[in-house]
Amino acid sequence: MKNLAIFCSGFGSNLQAVINAVKKGSIAANIALVISDKVDAFALVRAQKAKIPFLYVDPAGFRNKQEYDEFIVKNLRKRKIDFVVLAGFIRVIGPYFVKSFKNKIINIHPALLPCFKGTSGIKDAFEYGVKVTGVTVHFVDNELDGGPIILQQAICVKDNGTLESLSRSIHKLEHKILPLAIKLLIEGKLRIKGRKVSKLK
Ligand code: GRF
Repeated sequence: MKNLAIFCSGFGSNLQAVINAVKKGSIAANIALVISDKVDAFALVRAQKAKIPFLYVDPAGFRNKQEYDEFIVKNLRKRKIDFVVLAGFIRVIGPYFVKSFKNKIINIHPALLPCFKGTSGIKDAFEYGVKVTGVTVHFVDNELDGGPIILQQAICVKDNGTLESLSRSIHKLEHKILPLAIKLLIEGKLRIKGRKVSKLK
């Protein structure tokens, strides 16, 4: 059984979707660790409720990103983590971490990459006035929101919709797409060639 670490900074609804998928048996993996950089992240409450070990790692306690990342990688190794899922983790992870878990870290982004990178993808897409937006799950490399794309799904932006209604639809989609991507990942069904990710049957 593969061990997952899930990184969150906030509400943790994506974490919850993965917890539910594991409980249901649709993802045959063990969530071995939840890590947050925010002490008050509701994701930590979710981890505690689900009896998943969790760790709050305060960035202020380290001299630089490299030291922070080294501490995290050490903890991931200690827990024998196979794959890392960034699910609403707002800190950019550094090259040491990326190299240590090469092609084993994925991220969920609430827009159709390469559009609307950064931390406010839903709002940026909404304010831009796009008619179609969506969700992306991708491998993490050293470029912000830039690694090879695993899955994407689009939705239409309704003319009379609001940022709130769009956010709800995006999150609903995320909760479907992220467990699906994790399932493909842990079952070894993803092949990366350059920027292209193909799915094995
Ligand atoms: C999600 O929209 C995710 O795509 C983005 O941050 C948000 C996290 O939401 N990276 P939650 O904490 O999982 O509810």
